[in-house]
Amino acid sequence: MGKLFNIVTAFTFVFACALFLSISSVSADDPLANQLTVEDQQFTPGSFEDPGACIACHPDIYEQWSKSMHAYAWDNKWYQDDYQLAHSETAGATDVFCAACHAPIAARTGQLPPHDGSQFDATSKRGVSCDFCHTVTGIEETFNMGHVSDPGSMKYANRGDGSSPYHGVAYSAYHTDALFCGSCHNVRHPVTDVAVIDTYDDWLSGPYAEEGITCQNCHMTPTAGIGSNPGKSSPIGQERDHVAFHSFVGGSVVAQRNMGNEQQAQMSDEFLKAAARLSLESEIKENGLELTVHVDNVGAGHKIPTGVTYIRKMWLEVQVFDENNQVVYTSGLVNDKNHVDPDAVFYRLLFKDGDGNLTGKSWLAEEIGYDRRIPAQGRDTEIYTITLPGSGSYRADVRLMYRSLSQGSLDFHEGAESEKIESIEMATASSTFERS
Ligand code: HEC
Ligand code: HEC
Ligand code: HEC
Ligand code: HEC
Ligand code: HEC
Repeated sequence: MGKLFNIVTAFTFVFACALFLSISSVSADDPLANQLTVEDQQFTPGSFEDPGACIACHPDIYEQWSKSMHAYAWDNKWYQDDYQLAHSETAGATDVFCAACHAPIAARTGQLPPHDGSQFDATSKRGVSCDFCHTVTGIEETFNMGHVSDPGSMKYANRGDGSSPYHGVAYSAYHTDALFCGSCHNVRHPVTDVAVIDTYDDWLSGPYAEEGITCQNCHMTPTAGIGSNPGKSSPIGQERDHVAFHSFVGGSVVAQRNMGNEQQAQMSDEFLKAAARLSLESEIKENGLELTVHVDNVGAGHKIPTGVTYIRKMWLEVQVFDENNQVVYTSGLVNDKNHVDPDAVFYRLLFKDGDGNLTGKSWLAEEIGYDRRIPAQGRDTEIYTITLPGSGSYRADVRLMYRSLSQGSLDFHEGAESEKIESIEMATASSTFERS
């Protein structure tokens, strides 16, 4: 409890400092500098336009965005569960920190506190929306939301050569840069500096950054891979070779299905399946089988999994059958309570709290406690040693599985009657072999 109190005081302290430092102006490379933005970037409620104002002239983009997780960043149930828990365990110290990314317009127009969003206007409730992104004029920090806002009638993006009867258009190099995404998709604990989300830093040090392939190239196209989307961004605009697609697809198959967005769920499923490949090698040893499983990250520009990997997870499911289709070995199966075999090989990240215990509570992160993920264009290898009951032919079936949220976490928030979270298959491989 003492430790928790320290974290709470420290969170509050950092915000207080940020306020103070913003007056005495610090250098941009100071680790606290990123905290300035929320305090500095204050506008009157109503300064940012509602996404509804863009529908008439950008109907396709509106449709895509409105079913993206950005549109649900504030009001989605799984976010709210975690946010409310953080609030109650830190006496509110995390409220503005979380909202800065999940409800950026609310945070920048003084609509917190109260933390529960009861003072949010309709625009604030719509998460990361059009006018937040398209009035960004600078980025001060590579993590914890260093975007500089200049809300108004000028809209900034990747062109600047179009003309709109409703607003000005301006070219912005920031919007074409991965850092535009990265400053939100890079979260550091403001007190302990633990990398809570490292998607941008990870991308930056990987092969795709080297080749100049950005987040936008993969996530602002209609299909997995680097696709294109020819057409017009507005029926009254110019014809373009590629119009930035706004579905921002990731791995949220289940969340999207729960919200009734079947098409977005399908696209998310395709993204997950495009990310990984499995391959097997089997070798008969004296008392059984040595099964080598390789997992290759072939499609993601960053580690898999990425993002909130302390909430999401991937794991290997392995089953070996004899010639009568009787199971002789399993690992990574789901039990009747829908929990994954705890002895499975897990790809994920967990933190260590102040008492040295593993935790998925980001606000308690003192250091990284467990980290097994597969780098972009990289490979993970696991060797299973499996005892075989006798001679004959056998088959090994292996699947790489993904969950957006653990059943344990859902049960904790919603009780034992909670929905049974679905496991998504990312890749499969099978191999047959003989034991003489
Ligand atoms: C009356 C119609 C109209 C409305 C309303 C409208 N736009 Fe536009 N907008 C356009 C047209 C036309 C273009 C130019 C498209 C082209 O030629 O490629 C454009 C271009 C843009 C661009 C591209 C900027 C660049 O890089 O060139 C952005 C960003 C944008 N609009 C954002 C918005 C947002 C955000 C809203 C809602 C707050 C909105 N628009 C409302 C008509 C409109
Ligand atoms: C998370 C931030 C984000 C949100 C939310 C967002 N956009 Fe964009 N938008 C971008 C980025 C980044 C680009 C430029 C992509 C690129 O360079 O490939 C862009 C490009 C555009 C363009 C120019 C498309 C082209 O290729 O000609 C228009 C128009 C536009 N957005 C309108 C909107 C509207 C309308 C909404 C809401 C319905 C919206 N955007 C929501 C980030 C966002
Ligand atoms: C203002 C902060 C912010 C910016 C800027 C931003 N994002 Fe996000 N993004 C979020 C948040 C918050 C979520 C999580 C929403 C949720 O699931 O509650 C998210 C979720 C996502 C997801 C996961 C979708 C899924 O189905 O799981 C993808 C992919 C994504 N963003 C891509 C991008 C890309 C690409 C850009 C840059 C063009 C970008 N984001 C810019 C805050 C941001
Ligand atoms: C080479 C293409 C590629 C590039 C580049 C890329 N991504 Fe991804 N991304 C993917 C694929 C494929 C997935 C689905 C696999 C997964 O969820 O891990 C994904 C998943 C995601 C997710 C969802 C993770 C989850 O499971 O919740 C987020 C968030 C995300 N990317 C953000 C980004 C950001 C931010 C960048 C740039 C810094 C980026 N991506 C660059 C291909 C790419
Ligand atoms: C600097 C920006 C930033 C801050 C601050 C931030 N988040 Fe997030 N959050 C993100 C991004 C980006 C994602 C999307 C990653 C992914 O999809 O895997 C995300 C996703 C999530 C999700 C997953 C939601 C889903 O749809 O499954 C939860 C839960 C969450 N955040 C909780 C929190 C809490 C609680 C806080 C405050 C303690 C917080 N976040 C602070 C950027 C941020």
